[in-house]
Amino acid sequence: MKLFLDTAKIEEIREIAEWGVLAGVTTNPTLMARAGRGDYKAVAQEICYIVQGPVSAEGISLDAPGMVAEAEEFATWSPHIVVKITTTEEGLKAISHIRKLGMDADRLCQGCPWFGKCDTPVEKARELAENQGIRVNATLVFSAAQALLVATAGASYVSPFVGRLDDAGNDGMQVIADTVGIFQNYGIEAEIITSSVRHVMHIVEAARLGANIATVPYAVIKKAITHPLTDAGIKGFLADWAKVAPSS
Ligand code: E4P
Repeated sequence: MKLFLDTAKIEEIREIAEWGVLAGVTTNPTLMARAGRGDYKAVAQEICYIVQGPVSAEGISLDAPGMVAEAEEFATWSPHIVVKITTTEEGLKAISHIRKLGMDADRLCQGCPWFGKCDTPVEKARELAENQGIRVNATLVFSAAQALLVATAGASYVSPFVGRLDDAGNDGMQVIADTVGIFQNYGIEAEIITSSVRHVMHIVEAARLGANIATVPYAVIKKAITHPLTDAGIKGFLADWAKVAPSS
């Protein structure tokens, strides 16, 4: 299972990228606001530069033409951008329209401050964009039926929000299990991003059930690498090493 980071904070992304486990990033307007930097495009481009993998960016339009226009704009920022589209009737119309769109390769990466330093030079960026088209991450998925619909319309990623379901007294992981099963039954290629992750066991359960990706908040991924027995083990080994360490 691939791990994404669910944040727009550059320092968190840089730190976790160094671990060698980071395959992508998801953002949304709330996470952008929390990052406190204002310029969505500049932040998204910096994240793409660091991660060199899928980076989800979310607009605010609720009608299909507005969603399509935002998608076309966001896709020019980087070939790594994945456009988040809300799971609604208008969202379905937008997704099915977007999947038929080509990329405006001439506008790709224009004005990007990382241009020239990036591991994805512009020729490679154009090639990627032409092969991929504009990719959609269908967001705010709360049922397997919604997941099936957005994937059928053409979303590349679907994001069931397990934590918000649990908060509301539902079983978020059951939606992951049902969606994994349905996608397997019909060979649906959309990748399932376990989203709204609240704790380490959400990651474990998502992996056990066969989700393609979990997008994890910084605080949760930091907890995932720690264990009190690891700390106790280190302490014990260091204490014993002091007893046997060579004197010179
Ligand atoms: C994922 O793409 C979403 O941005 C995120 O997981 C939402 O999580 P929340 O329920 O913690 O806001």
